Amino acid sequence: MKKGDELILDVIELNSEGKGVSKTEEGFVIFTDKVLPGDKVKIQLRKKKSNYGEGRLIEVLEPSDYRIEPRCQYFGTCGGCKIQNYFYEKQLEFKTEAVRTAFKRIGGFENLEIPPALPSENIFYYRNKMEFSFSDDRWLMAEDIDKDTREEKEFALGLHVPRFHSKIIDIKECFLQSEVSNRVLNYTREFLKSRGVSIYTTETHSGFLRFLIIRECKNSADFMVSLITYDYNEPLITKYAEGLKNIAPEVTTFINAISSKKAQVAFGEEEKIVFGKGYIEEVLNKDSGLKYKFKISANSFFQTNTKQGERLYDIAAKAGNFEKTDKVLDLYCGTGSISIFISDEVAEVKGVELVEDSIKNAFQNKELNSISNVDFELGDIKDFLLSNDVRELHKYNKVILDPPRAGLHPKICEILSESDFEKIVYVSCNPVTQARDLQIICSQGKYKINSVQPVDMFPHTYHIENVVDLVRV
Ligand SMILES: C[S@@+](CC[C@H](N)C(=O)[O-])C[C@H]1O[C@@H](n2cnc3c(N)ncnc32)[C@H](O)[C@@H]1O
Repeated sequence: MKKGDELILDVIELNSEGKGVSKTEEGFVIFTDKVLPGDKVKIQLRKKKSNYGEGRLIEVLEPSDYRIEPRCQYFGTCGGCKIQNYFYEKQLEFKTEAVRTAFKRIGGFENLEIPPALPSENIFYYRNKMEFSFSDDRWLMAEDIDKDTREEKEFALGLHVPRFHSKIIDIKECFLQSEVSNRVLNYTREFLKSRGVSIYTTETHSGFLRFLIIRECKNSADFMVSLITYDYNEPLITKYAEGLKNIAPEVTTFINAISSKKAQVAFGEEEKIVFGKGYIEEVLNKDSGLKYKFKISANSFFQTNTKQGERLYDIAAKAGNFEKTDKVLDLYCGTGSISIFISDEVAEVKGVELVEDSIKNAFQNKELNSISNVDFELGDIKDFLLSNDVRELHKYNKVILDPPRAGLHPKICEILSESDFEKIVYVSCNPVTQARDLQIICSQGKYKINSVQPVDMFPHTYHIENVVDLVRV
């Protein structure tokens, strides 16, 4: 078997990145995109390594019983919703299995009861934030290829094509945010394209348009549009803003953020508030009926699926089994949303976070909700844990962890494995690194897993959030 060969394979399962896994008769494993468990497919071997290969789908010969027609016209090209063609119930089963497999194979946790992933209430229009990129290197969809004009190729506003760094699909309709969001997206394209406005490229470090960020509240009426440009063009932006108000009166604030850095990250170094208050205010509802408000500015982190974020925090709070005497450390607290969400259940919370803007937002959120029992500290978690002596740390009896996908530094796991907290709640968006970290935390025999609950925050993607509650043995 060699690169370029065509093979007929049965797809057995999806791996943790949503790629189909098949085996040849000799047991050689091949990963293929855009296929589903139960499919019989014809593929071409694109890459061959010593222990696995990568295939490119040529044809689905016999479809899985759970294959459905994807709703989105860009499915298969856009990197956003890789498993939108899979029954939602099957997506959930796949995600639950991904957590079970990681905990067994990586964490070494046998006989652990892991319940099914909690479904998302909405499987479309669930995102509160979308980030679209401008590009002068448009990805041509099959129906565009005949229209071979320069103009068609040189202006795109939309989402990335995986593996093709600069290529952007010109998205006219995305089912992840809302109808208003699509209206803003299409107005932005038409307005700027018809005026021949230039697009920034890193190659020449010139051009005007960079990103369009749309953030919308699901529990309040606030709606933010942020256009990120290389520099400032007041007449153009004023005209754009007038049109924006007309086509989408739902927009409550519009920001023109300026970024002259070479790095292609949707982050403005300077913000010009063109209209509105320059931020949005979202409400999170607790199971108990309590509500908390959160100020979200253009650059702040906020859980992207608002409704499911509420459920996630309720699950984390339930796992904490909090009492009015508890003193809680919220490590990797971001803008303080978990700290604030649990503040009514405990005596005290201290949130720690590395990003200065997030800590500023956290203090603002504390004030917005008139809470006095929450405090925040700027810092790296490893330094925070190492610089406080054990007695100081054990003023707190419970800990919540919510690190980024890479998980915890081994030193942090080691410190936790030797600690004496009553409870550690570990919220993670990557069960693979979570299982790895938990194995170390539990290795001294001081902690054991009490409960696990996967939560689906991102339907149609392979991502899964997972809440684990550790208790001191
Ligand atoms: C998954 S987010 C969690 C945010 C928050 N718990 C929430 O639900 O909104 C992870 C956070 O960890 C922060 N972070 C990443 N590395 C860090 C480090 N070494 N020390 C402290 N915070 C860090 C990031 O800035 C980010 O805000």
